[in-house]
Amino acid sequence: MRLLTLGPGDAGPRARDWMDIWFAAFAAPPYHVEPSARPLIEAAFLAHLEEPGFRLVVAEEAGRALGFAYGFYRRPGQSWVEEVARALGPRAGLLEGAFGFVEIAVHPDYQRKGVGSALHDALLEGVRAPRAVLTVHEKAPALGFYLRRGWRPLEALVGAPYLVLAKALQDQG
Ligand SMILES: CC(C)(COP(=O)(O)OP(=O)(O)OC[C@H]1O[C@@H](n2cnc3c(N)ncnc32)[C@H](O)[C@@H]1OP(=O)(O)O)[C@@H](O)C(=O)NCCC(=O)NCCS
Repeated sequence: MRLLTLGPGDAGPRARDWMDIWFAAFAAPPYHVEPSARPLIEAAFLAHLEEPGFRLVVAEEAGRALGFAYGFYRRPGQSWVEEVARALGPRAGLLEGAFGFVEIAVHPDYQRKGVGSALHDALLEGVRAPRAVLTVHEKAPALGFYLRRGWRPLEALVGAPYLVLAKALQDQG
């Protein structure tokens, strides 16, 4: 397996690869994502390519993508930031300059072999920010995956079954 880090120019043309993996991974509980959501999810991904510091890490074997993770810097004006800031209230300053760990997905055929851990570490490696932030479904198996990798719950979203997690980064930017 090899890991490659791609910027928006190289990640954009391969949107189909990422979507194939994402829909295979998120068909499982608690998400049960249906293929009909594809245009919406793909449009969100293409919009994310424009965000500051966008980077995507892909794990490949014999030229085939097994999984990917991507993120970018969180900034005021992003709808995610507005929603999370409301939940954090007086602690919303924790989002300033934070790196958003936006998606991670490993194709179900390749899960529990260390691919997700490698993607997780590679995406955060060298990121210049005080912390990384994400939201995760409170019933997702991925919650344990994050907690065992140093992420800590900050708050629950209002009216949605999602938790906000943060992880301090060594590189203080
Ligand atoms: C979350 C996700 C990315 C993890 O990917 P993965 O490739 O299975 O991750 P890893 O194999 O590195 O680690 C998963 C577990 O398998 C274990 N594992 C790693 N290699 C293993 C091996 N060879 N044999 C058995 N178990 C192994 C790890 O120790 C880890 O256990 P832990 O979480 O208790 O620490 C993947 O399950 C996924 O795509 N889930 C659906 C999408 C999702 O929920 N994304 C996150 C949304 S916020």
